[in-house]
Amino acid sequence: MKRIGILTGGGDAPGLNAVIRSVVLTAKYRCGWEVVGIREGYDGLLAGNPPVVLTEERVRDLLPRGGTILGAVNRGNPFVRVVEREDGTVDYLDVSEEAIRRMEEHRLDALIVAGGDGTMAIANKLVPLGARIVGVPKTIDNDLDQTDVTFGFDTAILTATEALDKLQTTAESHHRVMVLEVMGRNAGWIALKSGVAGGADAILIPEIPFDIAVVNDKIRALRAAGRRYSLVVVAEGAAPIGGDQHYYIKGDGLMQPRLGGIGYLVGNLIAEGIDGDVRVTVLGHLQRGGQPTPRDRWLATQFGAEAIQLILDEKWGHMVALHGSTLTSVPFADAIKLKFVDPNGTLVQMARNLGIVFG
Ligand code: F6P
Repeated sequence: MKRIGILTGGGDAPGLNAVIRSVVLTAKYRCGWEVVGIREGYDGLLAGNPPVVLTEERVRDLLPRGGTILGAVNRGNPFVRVVEREDGTVDYLDVSEEAIRRMEEHRLDALIVAGGDGTMAIANKLVPLGARIVGVPKTIDNDLDQTDVTFGFDTAILTATEALDKLQTTAESHHRVMVLEVMGRNAGWIALKSGVAGGADAILIPEIPFDIAVVNDKIRALRAAGRRYSLVVVAEGAAPIGGDQHYYIKGDGLMQPRLGGIGYLVGNLIAEGIDGDVRVTVLGHLQRGGQPTPRDRWLATQFGAEAIQLILDEKWGHMVALHGSTLTSVPFADAIKLKFVDPNGTLVQMARNLGIVFG
């Protein structure tokens, strides 16, 4: 019997628990293998956290549960351990051998890592050192180039679309401009998809630097036509033409920079440019929480089952991917490439044809 480890790296996404469930059930019923969970991602692996045996009973009710029962942290890169010295200086150490040793100590025949580009980049460097790792793509941002879609994205779009639906009714009552800031890092997928689904009038995405005058002209034109409210979706990574992205935490050696706050900037610029009431909502981590949609549960279940197939095929250093309706796999080196909205592509063009402006 094999013993398979699983860890969830980076930020969480709805569907991670469904992956864990799928891996455990497929390992058991298809192969007769045992699955153990490594808590707190790579950080927990390095810390030597004792693995948790994941039985069928343990994962029984995980399908609708958001988050990850294994915990997720954005730390623990074995190649860059951040060590703060007593004098306040910071050192970066390569402790990758420790990660390999931990896998041996835990008697793992293979490790499944579920994560985004950061998680896959680490795995990509561990495999040449002898680690038997396969990957499962996860991110609400849907910014991994080598898979059509990642689980968590559909749930995030639903949350953002529902937020727009709710903002629309109050916007209409008060004749207001409502600005909704959504996540997505440097990709505008959540903004674009939820913006179109939620009937936004303007969508600002990182891939298209914006001119606020275009947004304000749109709002004025709508008013002139008798519509006295507007909805503006802003991706957290959006930036004005010639300007910078907005970080609410700049970051340093110890702390990662955090995108966010551009919604307020946009709200102020609209308020200055038009004669009207503007309100701003930052949706934040609501997009990461809650029950995964049936589509995300399905995708997560497929990805978990396919990860077991990759182990059976000994395709170390490969990540599960969805191409069209076909499950396949891609090498980690390719899996870490990012996917952005094409400013001249058909999706943006379709939105423009609906009268939506991109600034
Ligand atoms: O990558 C997923 C994501 O939610 C991004 O959209 C966002 O920029 C980031 O993670 C937030 O990270 P944290 O949870 O560390 O604040």
